[in-house]
Amino acid sequence: MDALTNFIRRLPKAELHMHVEGSLEPEMMFELARRNRVALPFASVEAVRAAYSFSRLQDFLDIYYQGAAVLLTESDFHDLALAYFRRAAADRGLPFRVAIEGLLSGMATAEAELGLSTGLILCFLRHLPESEALETLKAAEPWLDRLLGVGLDSSEAGFPPSGFQTVFRAAGERGLKRVAHAGEEGPPAYVAEALDLLQVDRIDHGNRALEDEALTARLVREGRVLTVCPLSNLKLCGVPSLEAHPLKRMLQLGLKATVNSDDPAYFGGYLLDNWVQTARAVGLERDHLVTLARNSLEGAFWSEAECKPHLAHLDALAAGQ
Ligand code: HPA
Ligand code: ZN
Repeated sequence: MDALTNFIRRLPKAELHMHVEGSLEPEMMFELARRNRVALPFASVEAVRAAYSFSRLQDFLDIYYQGAAVLLTESDFHDLALAYFRRAAADRGLPFRVAIEGLLSGMATAEAELGLSTGLILCFLRHLPESEALETLKAAEPWLDRLLGVGLDSSEAGFPPSGFQTVFRAAGERGLKRVAHAGEEGPPAYVAEALDLLQVDRIDHGNRALEDEALTARLVREGRVLTVCPLSNLKLCGVPSLEAHPLKRMLQLGLKATVNSDDPAYFGGYLLDNWVQTARAVGLERDHLVTLARNSLEGAFWSEAECKPHLAHLDALAAGQ
């Protein structure tokens, strides 16, 4: 392994933005389709992979929701969660309990057997009315104390954060952290809305905030964490090439950017791939890498006591170069 990859591998780091259904690899998609007798509109694993050519968010979402339809049982979600964690060390009439119990049990196994720290964020689908998000929050009631927070995802343009103020206020009152996708394809104004109207603790993506100088300065001043997903941005044509990705510029501006994989099975790489490929493409120095790792640890919704050993580990590794 080359030195850069080796250094990044050894950095203590947190992934803050990964959609569980986005880790469904085509092989598992076919296996679950067979197990659950669900018909897939693809003839082979290769045909699924060949369909992963997107020109915008909606192209991907159409395939992603189709793929997620093979997930039906608690053990499907358990297997899905565990498959992802091994890598790291719905509106379909599906009972809520099935997904959430399966995911939580996969997470418990990962914590016990792989030594990982994990957290689950419940995302509301913004292409649906807020009444459905309120229903989702209600359905999640028995598990709220086991969730890290709530988020807002799916089709962004035309579905501003302002439409979800009631459900985000309710989630905040339950003590849940709040995050929202904003500025992935939507305008900078959506980033400001997420902060001002939804009181989010982190912005998922946030790339288009760079188009607004005053907003960028505010994000820097307030130390807002952005969960940036470089290979996702490349695959969904948010950037023309990885070399043109604004990650380094974000760091130079003082933004608290982090690196994440988003939907790794669809976007060509897991967490380490995102780090290494982007570091190479935009020319990140060791200081940048250490800053990215520190941002991820500080943005991981840990208590100070939980975060401290990881920061100490990072400091030691950074000092020992
Ligand atoms: N953006 C918005 N919604 C999503 C994404 C994304 O990258 N992945 C899964 N749902
Ligand atoms: Zn995302």
